[in-house]
Amino acid sequence: MIDAKKNKLRLGVNIDHVATVRNARGGAYPDPLRAALLAESAGADGITAHLREDRRHITDKDIDALMDGLSVPLNFEMAATDEMQKIALRHKPHAVCVVPEKREERTTEGGLEVAREENKLAHFIAPLRDAGCRVSIFIAAEMKQIEAAHRIGADIIELHVGPYCDAFTEGHFDKSDAELEKLREMSVAAHGLGLEVHAGHGITYDTVKPIAAFPEVMELNIGHFLIGEAIFDGLENAIEKMRALMDEARG
Ligand code: PXP
Repeated sequence: MIDAKKNKLRLGVNIDHVATVRNARGGAYPDPLRAALLAESAGADGITAHLREDRRHITDKDIDALMDGLSVPLNFEMAATDEMQKIALRHKPHAVCVVPEKREERTTEGGLEVAREENKLAHFIAPLRDAGCRVSIFIAAEMKQIEAAHRIGADIIELHVGPYCDAFTEGHFDKSDAELEKLREMSVAAHGLGLEVHAGHGITYDTVKPIAAFPEVMELNIGHFLIGEAIFDGLENAIEKMRALMDEARG
């Protein structure tokens, strides 16, 4: 049995959408590195950035700047492509999180189909692990994906909590309860296999606490809501409020 109080829950702040706003105009403002440094000083334990194939938000230059400027670890989100593997191997970030990517999607829509692409992914992540990166795989809360992530040698699974968060936010509480139960069971199962468990996607002030309360979950990665909230309340306040809710749930 894990003691949730002793297991500090880390907060990774995803700064992609600072870059989205910057890119809407072109130019230099707002600067994602500045947001990342503010997030650090507000208590973020890590920064997450997704370098998408189409560079719609974070750019290669942003990754250079984050690698040079951050004091906390960078979690580099990326698709399983040769181009991204080369970039990750050049930078050797603390962690890489492998996600599925489709050009036509607005955001990462589902989890990675590890079970279907086990061989390919095993070969893909091996050099990253050899280079010292912790490898995380973003998956739906399904046993077959967890087992496959374990077999390919991933260090971490990040559970896609979007279905729970979206159902809750839309008021479909039977569905959100069922999704939460699945997440609870799969957190226990993944932890039992020795995988570190993270969670992310769609988390808000209203949805964070039940997930933060799972003692197996070690890290939450949160972006869009915090960057949106920063418009009204400032980024530091938004992060401090989220951190306080996480601590309340944990304590
Ligand atoms: N974790 C992963 C793997 C993601 O793809 C994303 C979205 O980029 C997040 C966490 C953060 O999700 P959100 O921006 O909805 O908080």
